[in-house]
Amino acid sequence: MTTHSIQLKKNQENTIELIDFYNQATEDYKFWSNDYNMHFGYFIPFKTNPFKRDTMLNEMNKQVLKRLNIHSNKHRLVDLGCGMGSTMRYALKHFKNLIAYGVTLSEFQLKEGNQRLRGENGIIIKEDYNQTSFTSNSFDSAIAIESFCHSGHDIKSIKEAHRILKPGGRLVIADAFLKKSPSKLCYGSKYAYEKLCSHWNLKRIEDINKYRDVLLCNGFSDVTIENISLHVAPSVLHVPFAIAGFVLKQLFQTKSLKRESLHNLKGSFYALISGLHLNSFGYYLITATKA
Ligand SMILES: C[S@@+](CC[C@H](N)C(=O)[O-])C[C@H]1O[C@@H](n2cnc3c(N)ncnc32)[C@H](O)[C@@H]1O
Repeated sequence: MTTHSIQLKKNQENTIELIDFYNQATEDYKFWSNDYNMHFGYFIPFKTNPFKRDTMLNEMNKQVLKRLNIHSNKHRLVDLGCGMGSTMRYALKHFKNLIAYGVTLSEFQLKEGNQRLRGENGIIIKEDYNQTSFTSNSFDSAIAIESFCHSGHDIKSIKEAHRILKPGGRLVIADAFLKKSPSKLCYGSKYAYEKLCSHWNLKRIEDINKYRDVLLCNGFSDVTIENISLHVAPSVLHVPFAIAGFVLKQLFQTKSLKRESLHNLKGSFYALISGLHLNSFGYYLITATKA
């Protein structure tokens, strides 16, 4: 086998694992969010309640959408890695001029997410965000919340987002990034990084400084990178309590835990540990415009 075919096989295995992971573990997110938000939250002092997780998770939706500058004319939005469509539902509720598309690899999310979107101007389709069937220059905006990390913040995701956006269209990414290259991480950060990637099926996490260059070199301009780690931290601190509650409930009800659930829970734990390494990890909101 050549190095190329070994890498290809590895990528295929990762994708199958990712699909299994989300088909089996998505239901567990009900415990994290009533609205099925599969991301961290955004805390604003005196505005969002740090004890009410869903208000912070929905505030993240609001912050992402705010950066798209949606006006009153017809607007086509695509959510690249949309989960159960929670951000799409939030957007459709707040912007009546919106048509929203979401893409996911998970059959479970496709079926359940579309049921939740019934009667709304939105649809979820099963496609790879690195290679969609959308026409070029067809969207006014694109979002990717904690989804591009699954492809290792690959250049392919950026190229595809750029292809399907109209000139002047905006891309907003909300995700965790490294602050330095993986080879420069200290022992503790490296351990947390590797465990986080393997438990949440993330190929890798990019160095934020490199990511800016990748966006600029691939047709995006006006790239704004905001470190929002402190806004995100209060929702990350919910992780141990959410895990403990979930495990107790599962064990009480079914006396067992699915392999994927355990994997997901361990991933959440390593996300918390990574978050404590402030010198190595950060959570960022990136806004970029197709030139
Ligand atoms: C952590 S969830 C976030 C979901 C959603 N953005 C949210 O915030 O609720 C990651 C999502 O990315 C999707 N995903 C990962 N890799 C993908 C790919 N190559 N193509 C399409 N979707 C992908 C998963 O199916 C899942 O829906």
